[in-house]
Amino acid sequence: MSSRLSGGIVATQPLGTFVSDQLLRLCQAVGLHRSDAEVYARVLTDCLGTGAERPLDQPPPHPSFLSDDHTPVEYSLALVPDAPPTLRVLLEPGYASGTLAQQGRTGLRVVRALARRWGFSTERLDGVEDLFFPPDPQGPLALWIALELLPGGVPKVKIYLNPAASGPDRAAETLREALDRLGHRQAFDALPPADGYPFLALDLGDWETPRVKVYVTHRDASAADAGSLSRSEPGPGRETVEEFFRVAAGLEGADRYSGVGEAVRLAGRPVLSCHSFTETATGLPSGFTLHVPVRDYVRHDGEAHARATAVLRRHGMDPTVLDRSLATVSSRPLHDGVGLIAYLALVHERNRPPRVTAYISSEAYAVRPPLPARPRHQPFSSPRAARTEPRETLHSVGHGKAGAEIRMEPYRIKVVEPIPLTTPQQRKAAIERVHYNLFDLRADEVTIDLLSDSGTGALSSAQLAVGMAGDESYAGSRSFYRFRETVSELTGYTHILPAHQGRAAERILFSNLLEPGDTVLSNTHFDTTRANVELNGCVARDLPCPEARNLDSREPFKGNIDLGALEQALGESTGSRVAAVVMTITNNGGGGQPVSMENLRRASELCRRHSVPLILDAARFAENAWLVTRHEEAYRNHTPRQVAEEAFRLADGCVMSAKKDGIVHIGGFIGLNDPELAQKCELLLIATEGFPTYGGLAGRDLDMMAQGLQEVTEPAYLAERAESADHLAQRVRAAGVDILEPPGLHALYLNAGRLLPHIPPHQYPGHALACRLYLEGGIRSAELGSLYLGEEDEDGNPVKSPPYELVRLALPRRVYTRSHYDHVGRTLERIAKTAESVRGYRIVEQSPILRHFRAKLQPVTG
Ligand SMILES: Cc1ncc(COP(=O)(O)O)c(C=O)c1O
Repeated sequence: MSSRLSGGIVATQPLGTFVSDQLLRLCQAVGLHRSDAEVYARVLTDCLGTGAERPLDQPPPHPSFLSDDHTPVEYSLALVPDAPPTLRVLLEPGYASGTLAQQGRTGLRVVRALARRWGFSTERLDGVEDLFFPPDPQGPLALWIALELLPGGVPKVKIYLNPAASGPDRAAETLREALDRLGHRQAFDALPPADGYPFLALDLGDWETPRVKVYVTHRDASAADAGSLSRSEPGPGRETVEEFFRVAAGLEGADRYSGVGEAVRLAGRPVLSCHSFTETATGLPSGFTLHVPVRDYVRHDGEAHARATAVLRRHGMDPTVLDRSLATVSSRPLHDGVGLIAYLALVHERNRPPRVTAYISSEAYAVRPPLPARPRHQPFSSPRAARTEPRETLHSVGHGKAGAEIRMEPYRIKVVEPIPLTTPQQRKAAIERVHYNLFDLRADEVTIDLLSDSGTGALSSAQLAVGMAGDESYAGSRSFYRFRETVSELTGYTHILPAHQGRAAERILFSNLLEPGDTVLSNTHFDTTRANVELNGCVARDLPCPEARNLDSREPFKGNIDLGALEQALGESTGSRVAAVVMTITNNGGGGQPVSMENLRRASELCRRHSVPLILDAARFAENAWLVTRHEEAYRNHTPRQVAEEAFRLADGCVMSAKKDGIVHIGGFIGLNDPELAQKCELLLIATEGFPTYGGLAGRDLDMMAQGLQEVTEPAYLAERAESADHLAQRVRAAGVDILEPPGLHALYLNAGRLLPHIPPHQYPGHALACRLYLEGGIRSAELGSLYLGEEDEDGNPVKSPPYELVRLALPRRVYTRSHYDHVGRTLERIAKTAESVRGYRIVEQSPILRHFRAKLQPVTG
């Protein structure tokens, strides 16, 4: 997201002033009297409490899930034919209160204050309070309030509660119990199949027939799915709902041109249905709403606006009031961002004409940049391809509701490369020839090469196409400008310097950022990062979180930094200046485990407080973002791209090896906001890599990298990468081999120490397993144990031991299929059955540093 502050907003303006001004203008746009508007603006700031006073140049105190930029306020316009629209404001009252439990308490206090003010009862809330406010609540929200702003200065009040407050797996149970207590005993059974229950809403104010509303999540929904969701009688026609879905999601053209019709599914942020219950006699809902998160299926708000206009016109409503309202909320051109129109909803209530609601974001903190035009420079695009937008829609074809069961690659194979199939005799001869060092094998002696995921991915046809259009001018090539635009949109950094790979970026940045004697702190330095810190005469200190030590723990964010240790290290006065904090996402040296956004945000705050730059080692930023969307509650409804954008913006710069999540064979870059530092880096870049518009790369490399950086955040691609890693993990576990849990995306780490307890560390159990994998199945892997990290004295006694004996199976991107991984599983199964026959190794020759690359070994006999 680009900072709001660059858009002419006064940095120190408080949030409350910003949103109440928006609300005053919106009230005017919909024809509410000025005196009512002033009352509502005051109510809004009162409800936000101390949060209202917080200047906008300070980050939001907590990542409100209410909007993408974490503003705790959203507006909506409910439109009907031939009548004035209704304006509503949704707000998170406790958002500045601290923990979720404290937020809940503040929220309840604010609701009760409103009840006293306007004389309504909170009885229905009181009756279910214990269900939604447990002592240790889970996210992503505690309580939201929606105010329907009627003429007269007294609004209707609705509150939103979180059914997953006691954990997502208890959401259904909580909901059933709440509905029961509210007198709607049959309601739960009337709901359609659900992928989640994000909210329960209760009407509390002056309503003719107060409703209980249940919101239901539907992942990967198609138009046909949407058409089948209503349970109300009489309900909206199936065709009406399907048509609304298609227009709002932009599928009309895609359906016609792609020929995939009903199979098109929304694989990004899911659609929601809402079922409102007013009477208990039939148990059926009296109202149905379909919410489409339009912002995730457009490139910019110009498109979202066109969709909203089309929907309104089809339902006989005048779109001009929406135009007026949007203009009062933001003066930016609609094409300059995405997210101002967050959702479009079709509302059907018994015996009333259909309504359309447009949800409008405040964008107080940030504007999400538009997505680049697609296909960006696609010289060979067919008319069909040109119509296939939005991106996250059509890429998800076939990866539908049952995506988890369908399990397939979201691409097909156009070019193939034979893999060497060798005999056991050939493998034995090969490994003897290279003195049992797998690095020295020729690639054509390896059947499945899982040595590294770096630079080993498969290019897409689009990458090859843009590569052909590469501009090879020495300076100022078109390729560079295209590359720079893509990277700065993704990262938000103002200075982008290409480099030929990650370690070149590290060398250039650290040579300019560090002084001899400095310390660099990290969740875990990758080897080359550590080497580049140390080459500058500095100390590289790792501060992994304590959970990282337990190989078997399935904690989702074992890549986190230990925040307590970080705070302490930043505050220490040891005589060594902390010159930078490096967060490696995902944490390769820490077993490929991800870092949560919460951890990153808090690390960022600590760094800011101590004026220490935070640098991302972003080699696997997209894989980290994917795991965040899966496991971090507040980001469940974000796309990986949104998470990635936010992560980059929490740091002051990054170093990137694009050989991983750039899906290229060579490439990298530095991203920075500090102009002086960038200028110094540029000089070293010229001296050692190349002119700043090519940085050691060809023009075609820059174009392919830019394209790869866009493809890598596609949800369908990341879902498949996670699925296939999981597939391999299951095969390995079934073979009786333990792995470092939970499996990440880029590699699996086999627990060789546990499989081969009869081999002592100084006979290298990891290396023994790696050699057996090769001999048995032609599989090349990497030892990460005593050979790589250990040290022995002259008599072979260990002087330095690693914590674990691991073997890494790295997974190249888009290269191997599940049947290749099945071969790995079968091979491990055979090895595990005869594990006691595996012998250890001894070193017969080694180099003084990085010995694993060059060591010569022999099996231990006898
Ligand atoms: C986390 C991390 N950082 C940096 C690098 C270095 O990148 P490169 O191999 O492109 O020099 C790697 C390579 O594996 C890595 O995994």
